[in-house]
Amino acid sequence: MDNRPIGIFDSGLGGLTVLREIIKEVPNENIIFFGDTARFPYGPRELGEVKIFALRIADFLYEQNVKLLVIACNTATASALSDIKAKFNIPVIGVIEPGARTAAAATVSKRVGVIATRGTVGSKAYDNAINKIDSEIKLFSNAATLLVEYVEEGILEGSMLDKAICGYLKPLFKEDIDVLILGCTHFPLIEGSIKNCCDGSVKVISSAIETSRDVKNTLEKFNIENDGEIKPQRIFYETGNTSKNIL
Ligand code: DGL
Repeated sequence: MDNRPIGIFDSGLGGLTVLREIIKEVPNENIIFFGDTARFPYGPRELGEVKIFALRIADFLYEQNVKLLVIACNTATASALSDIKAKFNIPVIGVIEPGARTAAAATVSKRVGVIATRGTVGSKAYDNAINKIDSEIKLFSNAATLLVEYVEEGILEGSMLDKAICGYLKPLFKEDIDVLILGCTHFPLIEGSIKNCCDGSVKVISSAIETSRDVKNTLEKFNIENDGEIKPQRIFYETGNTSKNIL
């Protein structure tokens, strides 16, 4: 039994899509969520700068005595996962490897697309993760910067959004992908609109569910689950007050 909290962070509110799945998977756990809304968006920034932010947040959460860290942001995972793992003596889980694993299991044609931030696409983190699992899979990426802004502004549907989504997906469909990874934790919030732009033959994958399974397995592996005798606490921090209450 270990009642220390799990620490989860993102640049904004996208990480709440991961938090939602983690709560479903391990409902007894205490959780601290940190949204770096003052420095949002991470996507267009240099990866080195994002790494500094991510390490600072990890420091803060570690000081709150978390037992496990989840980097619920693809851009922060791409830039800082290995450094955070090396720095702290607690398990650390990112969102890229679980998403890549799910996509690799789902593709039949071995042609996979990903939409993500510019930082994630530029890092080639998905290419590397997919390649490690199956080197025959071809990955096609597109940086869908505007979609992150729409989500953070609370624009979750409408013709303007649909047009932007279809514009980002068109070059990927030209490559005959059969799986699309939502490589940004903001995108599950517009999954319905994204699916409307896909024809039925493309499977849409978000890493949140697979990440939450990793959380459960890791808690079990290290024997650090909470027993749930006391109602779990959820604490939320944000660094700015610009995000919208849309969940
Ligand atoms: N949620 C972040 C991600 O998964 C993207 C948002 C941002 O650009 O900060 O990459």
